[in-house]
Amino acid sequence: QSLRSPRFSIHEFLAPSSPSGYDMFVRKTDFDNVVKLLSDRRNTHSLEREMDVLRSCKSKNEIKVMRQAGAISGKAMSQVMRAVQPGMEEAQAQALFEYECALRGADRQAYVPVFASGKNALMIHYVRNDCVMGERDVMSVDAGCEFRGYASDITRTMPTSSDGRFTSPQRDLYEALLRTLKGCTALATARQGYTLSALHRRSVEMLHAELRDLGFHLGFGTLERILYPHYIGHWLGIDLHDTSTIERSTRLQEGMVLTIEPGIYVPDDPAYPKAFRGLGMRVEDDVAVGYEDNLVLSAEAPKEVADIEAVCAQRV
Ligand code: GLY
Ligand code: MN
Ligand code: MN
Repeated sequence: QSLRSPRFSIHEFLAPSSPSGYDMFVRKTDFDNVVKLLSDRRNTHSLEREMDVLRSCKSKNEIKVMRQAGAISGKAMSQVMRAVQPGMEEAQAQALFEYECALRGADRQAYVPVFASGKNALMIHYVRNDCVMGERDVMSVDAGCEFRGYASDITRTMPTSSDGRFTSPQRDLYEALLRTLKGCTALATARQGYTLSALHRRSVEMLHAELRDLGFHLGFGTLERILYPHYIGHWLGIDLHDTSTIERSTRLQEGMVLTIEPGIYVPDDPAYPKAFRGLGMRVEDDVAVGYEDNLVLSAEAPKEVADIEAVCAQRV
């Protein structure tokens, strides 16, 4: 039972499951006194906020573990890029990702992964992963392992075509997204003093300019309502969506870890340029904030077009 559940009882936590009922305590009266004290709500309050503050800035050793988690997932992502091809099932790529993580020592997957080829990528939380990959599609893969208790969270978009190349509209849209990811990553240092919400606003501005250059005519709010309807990222750590009481208005500090994950999802609708209709893609890195710079924990997962296509070209 989750510690966050309202039904969670500190009494159940303290009372061991053994028949004696009080063997964490030498005397039964000690146990009874603690139960009495804690059962009065005036004496207790949740430590969630205090714990989140402690968890929000990671130590050097925590960053080291998170770097390993990112490296494992990044290498597994690269193996997926090598394997996907038309006719393969999304679930087969998922199985390969999980296998490659396990081989490298991962504890488990950090969350239910998304393997969304073709139009499935327009559903942000697509997790059925049961379709067959097409000949000229892209697939967005959002997957990450947990390693020694810490999560990684990576998204990459790859061509599923047999030659391993993006079509030119796919490449143009992907590069717009990649420039946005890099632009936002460059801002994620403590010295520049951005908050997560300011970073999000910058990502909206960047994507707006990129899409305008690609011929999109966007009305007020269309980008955030339809084409990019999610946030730039979230805190990452022991949990996938870590330290939820740390506000998005908090300035980035050294040791914080966040995801940066711009996405574009173009409906099959005449309101948008024809070449991009039906395309959905996202790219997501895990970033540890430093004072002057930052460390991309997910660097092993290829993200430059040339690197993705080179790995995809190794398909057998
Ligand atoms: N994989 C879930 C997320 O990106 O937040
Ligand atoms: Mn993700
Ligand atoms: Mn994420």
